[in-house]
Amino acid sequence: MDDHLGAGSLARLLAGWRESGGPGASAQAALAGRITSLLADGRLAVGTRVPSERELAGALGVGRGTVAAAYEELREAGHLVRRRGSGTWTAVPSARPSGPGGPPAPLDGTLHVGATGFAPFAPMGTPTAQVPGREVIDLAHAAPWAPMEAVTEAGARALAELPTHLASTGYDVLGLPALREAVAARLTAQGLRTSADEVMITAGAQHAHSLVARTLVRPGDRVLIEQPTYPGAIELCRHASARAVPVAMVDDAATGRPGWDLDALAAAMRASSPTLGYLVVDHQNPTGAVMPPETRAAVVAAAGRHGVTLVVDDCLRDMWLDTPVPPPLGAWAGAGGTPVITTGGLSKTVWGGLRIGWLRAPRTLLRRIAAARSSDDISTPVLEQLVAVGLVERLDELVDQSRRVLAHRRDHLRAALAEALPEWRVPNPSGGFSLWVDLGVPRSSALVEAAGRFGVHLAAGPRFATGGAFEQYLRLPYTLTPDALDDAVARLAEAWDSLGVGTSTLTTVV
Ligand SMILES: Cc1ncc(COP(=O)(O)O)c(C=O)c1O
Repeated sequence: MDDHLGAGSLARLLAGWRESGGPGASAQAALAGRITSLLADGRLAVGTRVPSERELAGALGVGRGTVAAAYEELREAGHLVRRRGSGTWTAVPSARPSGPGGPPAPLDGTLHVGATGFAPFAPMGTPTAQVPGREVIDLAHAAPWAPMEAVTEAGARALAELPTHLASTGYDVLGLPALREAVAARLTAQGLRTSADEVMITAGAQHAHSLVARTLVRPGDRVLIEQPTYPGAIELCRHASARAVPVAMVDDAATGRPGWDLDALAAAMRASSPTLGYLVVDHQNPTGAVMPPETRAAVVAAAGRHGVTLVVDDCLRDMWLDTPVPPPLGAWAGAGGTPVITTGGLSKTVWGGLRIGWLRAPRTLLRRIAAARSSDDISTPVLEQLVAVGLVERLDELVDQSRRVLAHRRDHLRAALAEALPEWRVPNPSGGFSLWVDLGVPRSSALVEAAGRFGVHLAAGPRFATGGAFEQYLRLPYTLTPDALDDAVARLAEAWDSLGVGTSTLTTVV
């Protein structure tokens, strides 16, 4: 893959960089700040060769000295490195421990607030701003805290059981039979009749998506996605050299809640003939939407008519907070109809660090996916699978405990935002981990950058869309403790004020 980013492409990503620096900021500081925020929310990948100073200056219409000074600032911060003979590359600054023994132990199992310059959940060590005297609050990742006792206990039991597996090779591309049985039993209980030989265990749900893409998608193929969607889906399209076909989520006229436009989905399937359609039908990331049963049936029928294989990402389905969700979309797929692949995992219900996911697919398709996997990681680590068996079996109990805490935090964040930032339109999702907030004005990237200066790490709306859309939206997770959420909202209000676009009611840090 070519990791060189053209000057025109970077200039497009930098749109609005001058204003985003805030009043009085020098051009070099505004440019460096904007590049830092692109790195922080992942739109500019680590390990990318950036354009030369002259090329970028030309594309931005500024003097070369401005770009040179911004690049120098970024080099000093460790966000850029110069490699002899091959230009300048984006990089991860080296971590600085917060003191003897490193970062403080997390409170209540929450791993989202870190005292280092790195968000603990940041993929590939995505950098966050260093803010002297303040802990960095990570609102860029919507992930749960781990139920410590349950995971520790499952780990101890797995370790004790490991010797009984050591006589085998440990290579099983489909996964441990006991875990496949447990996943099949869970899917069946949810309303999707499944036998263990339709299940493959993977290293997380995203790994499952990647295996599906590798098996079914060829360069130039089209992949239907929701707009906005989980950024990992957009990344997958890019890596597969596929063309994303985004279909906009719409607000339901009756409920005011976001949902799917069935006509638009069917029209996109007809017009673009996508190879795959990737959908998150329960607590869609980032809108929180839940697809009604009749729409599920109609989507499966449309996919069947147009020969589209559906990948239904059910990672978030267990995280309902108010009312249980309908059966999995795959339950509407009849034998011999359009293939529906269902993916899931433990990252959103237990802990992302386990890296346990799965996919359910018709047997013939599963065999093709297994064949494609054999050149990759071969199989999922046995110890992690043993840990997962015990956790999948008691998932309802574990999720039930987090549900009550999460519902409280959701309500807490909504109330805090209503008070501090009344001009924002804050939805009330029935599940998932985050609020998809309408800022009222297209300043999401600017806000994310400003928030970085106040020590809050966020993902801007365009991160969840193709083509830079959703500049008016911000995803705000409510997974932190109420105290941390209050702190985050106070800082957000300060950051919002610094943009001069609205009047928040809070101007000081509390
Ligand atoms: C909708 C969705 N699917 C998949 C994933 C990735 O899951 P995993 O950690 O199991 O790879 C995420 C993570 O944020 C997600 O939000």
